[in-house]
Amino acid sequence: MFTKASLLITLATALSVMASPAPINVVQERATNASPTVTLCTAAQFSGVCVNVAVVSDQCVNLTGGLTTLNEEVSSAVIPDGFICTMFNQFGCTTSSSADSRDEIGLVGGRYPNFKTITGIAGTQNFNDMTSSFSCSPL
Ligand SMILES: *[C@@H]1O[C@H](CO)[C@@H](O)[C@H](O)[C@H]1NC(C)=O
Repeated sequence: MFTKASLLITLATALSVMASPAPINVVQERATNASPTVTLCTAAQFSGVCVNVAVVSDQCVNLTGGLTTLNEEVSSAVIPDGFICTMFNQFGCTTSSSADSRDEIGLVGGRYPNFKTITGIAGTQNFNDMTSSFSCSPL
């Protein structure tokens, strides 16, 4: 026969077993945060071909090699929270003229469904099918 005390201990043990998966979720969350990705899509509304590119802080990524499909084709993107990513019209993350910001656009973390009318840190412009390289930095 169970006494009241042993029943309580049994219940407490069962509850602590049920609670144990929590730390695993925390680990998974940290792992996700440790490897943020930028999602780049060739059509608006996150359609067409979408590629997740791992973010390496302050490193220029050219849309060449395995990313050639995206070159001058990006029409929507998801930027990870906590980062600012600048998309450039040229390779090498360079801008041709300091007076003209229209060949680059700075985007903070968020969803950008249509590059034809896209609001970056310097205002709204058309950046559709213009991206050839990008670079991200933590905010
Ligand atoms: C990107 O392209 C530019 C221009 O072709 C080149 O100078 C630069 O080294 C490239 N960067 C990377 C990371 O491949």
